Amino acid sequence: MSSIQLRLSVNGREHELELDSRVSLLDCLREHLGLTGTKKGCDQGACGACTVLLDGERVNSCLVLAAQCADAEVTTIEGLASSEAGRAMQKAFVRNDGLQCGYCTPGQVCSAVAMLAEYEAEVPSAVGEAGLTDAEIRERLAGNLCRCGAYNGILAAVREVAR
Ligand code: FES
Ligand code: FES
Repeated sequence: MSSIQLRLSVNGREHELELDSRVSLLDCLREHLGLTGTKKGCDQGACGACTVLLDGERVNSCLVLAAQCADAEVTTIEGLASSEAGRAMQKAFVRNDGLQCGYCTPGQVCSAVAMLAEYEAEVPSAVGEAGLTDAEIRERLAGNLCRCGAYNGILAAVREVAR
């Protein structure tokens, strides 16, 4: 094993870490920083439960090495909870029954917030009445699986925030 020194910025806070160079961002967040809001589902890039934002873009944190994130700002569900967009999405999930067991929910919320920002950047002025269709929302969130099948509630929540 080779260990590395790493400075990581997570939710606006700097952390100095000494880690095995093979540690994933997901394990770093959960096991070294105590940020357990980010969930481990498959640990191989298939389910989206571990979604976090890296410089505002969605990533599966199980597929990223912590060592790759030294110059980036990492935002987890804990960080999003203190942003207006994150709070609005969380409330919409609650209002629309967008969860059952809740295991996939942090990843769904991170993904949905970033997806709307991506969409707005791609298609300015299109978020709203005539913008994002239900089919597009489903397509753009297809990387986030929900084994409870709460997809209709998730869709309703994202649609509510998009409009
Ligand atoms: S835990 Fe990362 S994609 Fe499933
Ligand atoms: S709410 Fe249970 S996995 Fe999605």
